[in-house]
Amino acid sequence: MAKIRLDKAVADYAGITRSQARELLKSKRVAVDGRMEKLFDYKFDPEHQSLAVDGRELCAVRHLYLMLHKPQGYLSATRDRRAPTVLDLVPPEYRRKGLFPAGRLDQDTEGLVLLTDDGQLAHRILSPRRHIPKTYFVTLDRPMTCQMAERFAAGMDLGGGEVSSPARLEISGEDPCSGRVVIYEGIYHQIKRMFQRCGAQVVYLKRLAMGGLWLDEALEPGQCRPIAEEEKNRLFMGETD
Ligand code: URA
Repeated sequence: MAKIRLDKAVADYAGITRSQARELLKSKRVAVDGRMEKLFDYKFDPEHQSLAVDGRELCAVRHLYLMLHKPQGYLSATRDRRAPTVLDLVPPEYRRKGLFPAGRLDQDTEGLVLLTDDGQLAHRILSPRRHIPKTYFVTLDRPMTCQMAERFAAGMDLGGGEVSSPARLEISGEDPCSGRVVIYEGIYHQIKRMFQRCGAQVVYLKRLAMGGLWLDEALEPGQCRPIAEEEKNRLFMGETD
């Protein structure tokens, strides 16, 4: 296992933010192998070194990150009395306390959903201050047009005081009613509302990617699998200011 910066190690092990971890380091409350250490970028070796705060040894919090291929018909929620939720699709070996979907898809939308018990990561993904690209495959009830692509690129007033930032629409070369859309927020029903403003209805919607993390094509609808650390980092690829 690679060495990691000490401020990240403290944050990960203690389940706190990076800035909280730095405060602990600055106040000399952190020890590596029993010796006080305060350098944020000290290279900590998780395999061979121990970490303590105020003399109490910490163990790494091991979070779970699952990539789910959400089928239509499931709610992006943890519990609901009327409809099945994405958590109903999680096999017993991955069920654990605190698992939830980091971001919502509509009940009739399919595709990539990240399930995790890591609240901090979910916060990073969902924070309105971050603009992580989300890529969708869309089919409309009519052909897509260049005017639609221009309106997407300009950003769009969605009503109710909500405005989308510039988005990308690429019309498919094979089927003029289909294409790819990249958006940078997670406004309620965003893509359906953007097309409605252009006079069209979405008849099929599937999320293909969040940042640089693409839905694994080997996953059938309803299946999930854990993602590797390297895949997790891809979530933040392509982020804009
Ligand atoms: N935009 C929508 O309209 N619905 C979704 O589920 C996701 C994005």
